Parts: sequence; C-alpha cells; structure tokens
Amino acid sequence: MRGYLVAGNWKMNGSNASNRALVEGIVAGVPSSSDVQLLVCPPFPYISSVAGLIEGSPVLLGAQNVSAHASGAFTGETAGSMLQDVGCEFVIVGHSERRALMGETSKTVALKFKAALDIGLKPILCVGETLEQRESGQTKTVIDEQMNAVLDEVGIDVFSDAVIAYEPVWAIGTGVTASPEQAQEVHRHIRRLLESHNAGVAERIKILYGGSVKGDNAAGLFSNPDIDGGLIGGASLKSDDFLAIAEAAASLS
Ligand code: PGA
Repeated sequence: MRGYLVAGNWKMNGSNASNRALVEGIVAGVPSSSDVQLLVCPPFPYISSVAGLIEGSPVLLGAQNVSAHASGAFTGETAGSMLQDVGCEFVIVGHSERRALMGETSKTVALKFKAALDIGLKPILCVGETLEQRESGQTKTVIDEQMNAVLDEVGIDVFSDAVIAYEPVWAIGTGVTASPEQAQEVHRHIRRLLESHNAGVAERIKILYGGSVKGDNAAGLFSNPDIDGGLIGGASLKSDDFLAIAEAAASLS
C-alpha cells in the first residue's frame, strides 16, 4: 500500500496574511486517514513562516525549486541544505513552467534532482508532454526522455526516496484535466519504465497526477491503480478546495 500524497504547489502566489488563512484552514481539516499525506510548497520567502504555521500538525513542507549547486557564488539561487535547514522535506524539480519559461533542460533537472537527494530532500520530479507532442503521438517518447535523463544521472536505487508527478502541460492551469484513462495509461508507462530497472522501487514509488485536479475530479483520477495522489496548483490556494481533494483521497484509502 503506497498511500496517497496530496501536494499543493502554490507557485508565485500568497502573502503572509493569505498564507496564514490558507494553512490554518488546511491544518484544521486534515483528513483522519493515515494513508493520506498533505504537503504544501510555498514560495521561498514564506517557507519559514509556513513551517511555524504547520508545526505540530501532520502537514508536510516542500519548496518549488532548488539549485543544482551546494553553496557559493550563485546569486539568487537557493541550496538544498538551506531548504532543509528551514524545515523542508520535499522539493519540486522540473516543473513544466521552469522547463518552458526558465529554460531548464532535462540535464539541469537531473542535476537538481541529484542535489536534492544528496542533501536528503525528497525530490518530486515533474514530467509531461505538451498538447502538440500528445497530438503527434510523442507522449511516451517525451516522458522517456525526461525520465531517462534523471535515471542516467542518479541510477534507479535512489528513486526510492523520490516522487514522480505526471503533469501533462496542456492540463496545467487550463481547467482541462486528463481523463482518468489518459492519466492511468501514462502512469502505468512510467511505472513500467522504472520496473525495467528495479521492480521493488517501481512498486513503492508514488506517482502523482497534476493538471487541473479539483475536488470533483480527484476521486476518478486517484482510484486508478498507478495514481497515488496529486500535485495541485490552483486548487491548493483555498483550503476548502485543497481539503476536498484530500478527502477524495481519504475516501479511497
Ligand atoms: P493546476 O497546476 O492544478 O493549477 O493545473 C498544477 C501544477 O502546475 O502543478
């Protein structure tokens, strides 16, 4: 039993005041199921204050990005050790917005994934195809390239400490969700790819779905055998919306 992880990617949203209301709402409504973990990933300036707000609750903390470097003259970058120092357990790497808007290549993502693991953070590796790639039948090729870049860098064994998020780019922030069948097909493909390296790791790793997950479509997605929760953008910014997704996971566990 892998259990579910429901992770909120707040992106570049929030303020001290809105974060407090959001986190207090989440903490007050955490589902009682021990098979559902909740994670919040605030913007960097708020990580410490959110760490204080979730203290004593089961809510977990993560960041949205990490430097591939350990320390030094990298103005504006944030090292994994710093994230860990302020209470992060997870870090998102390779989000499609960073790949598309910040020029992160699969190689950069692989180095960030490695840097996170080296310091003891759990990376959440995002992979996913664009609409054009899907329509031209390249979905699995794209996923394989993104996955293999990381596998080549770090090997399979360390994936035991990682999470994968399948996020079709065309479903992110668009209100268009992949159907449960479309999502399950790619999740199965990712698990099979990992299985070809190490069956035990493939069986244990959580593979999240991301892209317009809401309270009313979460159960349909999460009820599939290879979907172990969600990476939630828009619906992670209101506690009721986020908790509705967590409840959907709890109802299945
Ligand atoms: P969305 O974003 O839920 O707003 O589609 C998901 C993500 O980008 O992680």
